[in-house]
Amino acid sequence: MKPLSTDDIRQRYLSFFQEQDHAVIPGAPLIPENDPTVLFTTAGMHPLVPYLLGERHPQGKRLTDVQRCVRTQDIDEVGDASHLTMFEMLGNWSLGDYFKEGAITMSFRFLTEVLEIPMDMLAVTCFQGDSDAPKDEESAAIWEKMGIPRERIGFLPKAKNWWGPAGQTGPCGPDTEMFTWVGEGKPQGNPATHETQWLEIWNDVFMQYNKTAEGNFEPLAQQNVDTGMGLERTAAVLQGVPTVYETDRMRPILDRVRTLADQQDTRSERIIVDHLKAAVFIIADGVEPANVDQGYVLRRLIRRAIRAARQLRIEHDGTFAPTIANAVIEEYGHIYGHLKTKQKEIRDALSGEEQKFGATLKEGLKQFEKVVAETGAQIDGVHAFHLYDTYGFPLELTKEMAAEKGLSVDEKGFAKAFAEHQKLSRAGAEKRFAGGLADHSSETAKLHTATHLLSAALRKILGNHVYQKGSNITAERLRFDFCHPEKMTPEQLKEVERLVNQAIEADLPISFHVTSVEEAKEEGAMGVFDERYGDEVKVYTVGNEKTGTVFSKEICGGPHVARTGMLGHFTLVKEESSSAGVRRIKATVAGGPEQIEIAHEREA
Ligand code: ALA
Repeated sequence: MKPLSTDDIRQRYLSFFQEQDHAVIPGAPLIPENDPTVLFTTAGMHPLVPYLLGERHPQGKRLTDVQRCVRTQDIDEVGDASHLTMFEMLGNWSLGDYFKEGAITMSFRFLTEVLEIPMDMLAVTCFQGDSDAPKDEESAAIWEKMGIPRERIGFLPKAKNWWGPAGQTGPCGPDTEMFTWVGEGKPQGNPATHETQWLEIWNDVFMQYNKTAEGNFEPLAQQNVDTGMGLERTAAVLQGVPTVYETDRMRPILDRVRTLADQQDTRSERIIVDHLKAAVFIIADGVEPANVDQGYVLRRLIRRAIRAARQLRIEHDGTFAPTIANAVIEEYGHIYGHLKTKQKEIRDALSGEEQKFGATLKEGLKQFEKVVAETGAQIDGVHAFHLYDTYGFPLELTKEMAAEKGLSVDEKGFAKAFAEHQKLSRAGAEKRFAGGLADHSSETAKLHTATHLLSAALRKILGNHVYQKGSNITAERLRFDFCHPEKMTPEQLKEVERLVNQAIEADLPISFHVTSVEEAKEEGAMGVFDERYGDEVKVYTVGNEKTGTVFSKEICGGPHVARTGMLGHFTLVKEESSSAGVRRIKATVAGGPEQIEIAHEREA
């Protein structure tokens, strides 16, 4: 096994797949840009859904990248050896190109030839089959051909060996997962027989079905491969360390926590490293602590980290989280340059939240005294949970303080209140997910097109200094942030609204073409022009070049509606300040047809 550094593994992965004719594409931001159905990018395939459904990708049929991902479903379980809230996923994709044989052969070669993992340390699992799809004997046979003995091949049901759809409908299929032995002594059996002794490091998903709204699995016209390898886990395996926290890039952050702490507690130390690392990346992608959506997840992460810091008796006066953020940026800034350019914003957001939370804790102490004054010998579970949920008191803290007063805490009652609360928040999360990633609903596409019209209209009315600073779309409205030094006048707002509606009434056609970044610039296409673009991009044009009626031209991933008339009527709802020199507009569209058509690639 090669004791490769994290940076080395990342680089070798991309190089290996580049040699196998894959285009290296940049990872997307953590906040999905035009997909209101999920809070965070949770897998490398998320930004690629339109292409998995059949749209042509400008970089071709073989892609590879490193995607930063955030998964919040096990936030309460973080602290073990291998689960992280934010992690890096190495991925390679076939969009209707190679399938099982190609994917498995390349995975096997990367594991055994590039990473030099001995074959007897490897095991795999395949889909065991059910009424929706047959047992995946095909994948198992390919593994055997590579030399993996039958004993190391486990077959598992859909709950384990099936991936997707990411939402309720869309591309999905059986997968084959790769594991390395982390148990004591010689490797035994496979993940189906010795579950906890095998660690999953890579997943090849064979997206050959489309799950319909009725719950049926229909064969997809295009058979795709979607893979994801956990970078931190793979680094732990190759570096021979027992947890992801001890790998070369995470260990210095852990050490920084330890130098600040007066006490030792492994779980608290890991929570701090995990949560603050995630927080740094989330803030760098444009989120601030808040009470809803991504901002709420961010707030929870920071506050949980500070609670863990209390357990370790670390001072938290507004400098603790920024100190750890510095360590994160030192380890990752050379790969993720935006962490460095956003260092000040990151530190300010963390410091502000740390101070706010300090004040809340003070309030919590008052509340605790009140509870104590009214309670008998035992603090009941509901009160303990209220202290936890509203004032951020971990149960341990309440217990400790209660013990100082000769009181106990009803822990079972606390657990019950906690479970009830979780059930509620999960129901909320599931509801939010229900729309599904694949379901780029017609409302979203309409609002997305409206955003392009708005952006073009703003430039026409206010001038060419107007640039997009951010965009966010929900099923109800669009939000558009742009550079402009002052509040817009009522006349300007009216003019912008009129111009957009004029474009809608003209029922202009919309299409895209694929070109290089350079040529897109030359054509005058608007764009963000940062590291997110690959060499080739899609340019969406609203209007007709031949008749000289181009209203807007912008680099964008899509999707858009096929004609502006489908938007109905555009209404500006609000114009306000977003931050210094940046204005924010919220707007809606209404009255267009329910069924829309999506804009296609223009004929050559
Ligand atoms: N999308 C697959 C996963 O996340 C590769 O495991």
